[in-house]
Amino acid sequence: MVNLNLPDNSKIMPGKTHGVNGQNKIVFNIYRWNREDNKNPRVDKYFVDKKKLGPMTLDALMFIKNDLDPTLTFRRSCREGICGSCSMNVNGTNTLACLKPIEGKEINIYPLPHMRVLKDLVPDLSEFYEQYKSIEPWLKNSTKAKKEQRQSPADRKKLDGLYECVLCACCSTSCPSYWWNGDKFLGPAILLQAYRFIVDSRDNNKKERLQKLEDKFKLYRCHTIMNCTKTCPKNLNPAKAISEIKKLQVSS
Ligand code: SF4
Ligand code: F3S
Ligand code: FES
Repeated sequence: MVNLNLPDNSKIMPGKTHGVNGQNKIVFNIYRWNREDNKNPRVDKYFVDKKKLGPMTLDALMFIKNDLDPTLTFRRSCREGICGSCSMNVNGTNTLACLKPIEGKEINIYPLPHMRVLKDLVPDLSEFYEQYKSIEPWLKNSTKAKKEQRQSPADRKKLDGLYECVLCACCSTSCPSYWWNGDKFLGPAILLQAYRFIVDSRDNNKKERLQKLEDKFKLYRCHTIMNCTKTCPKNLNPAKAISEIKKLQVSS
């Protein structure tokens, strides 16, 4: 049976120390929580020799897992900012660990904020993916044309700044509106994806897509706070995509 215990983050305790402090050492303070052991979350300290690390935060996590503590749990795959799986909070900013250079002598690493935690640095993104599914993220075209759907260079250009999104959820989990209404507000990542299909010239379902978003929670819980755009590790602008949807809502 699945244990639905959730971490009580108001009771984060100091945890274990791994390695020894010394010259050239960087300390990584890393959030740990395991639903299996029924204990409060804790922050473990890992002292690591900088000379043994590659340049990125993910290199440090890999070193810690391989050489100091195999129980540390996090997601990663491409280590190139493409798969979106290594999203976490590093020194207070949501980012991709594989794109975040190691800076300073002390680094705090936590899971993405305001999400359920599965284990250590791994958030539960099931609801986020359900929201993604709800916007029908595929081209819908009722014409029976068997031929390929061509795009002019100008139409293709409209997808720049949108197709690069790797669905890492850094933006949505930095948005206060999403923190408090994440069950009803779609959040910046999913709205950017929704806009990506609304403006695709090969999709002829624009009107229906806009109608589905005409909702005081799904879209209009965005109050232009802009954390989303500030944090996006791919330098995208979900706040702009949201404002473009709002403009289309009043003009079409
Ligand atoms: Fe991640 Fe940026 Fe896409 Fe948001 S817009 S999911 S931060 S890549
Ligand atoms: Fe949130 Fe970004 Fe809007 S931070 S309120 S989605 S501009
Ligand atoms: Fe794929 Fe970081 S490991 S985005």
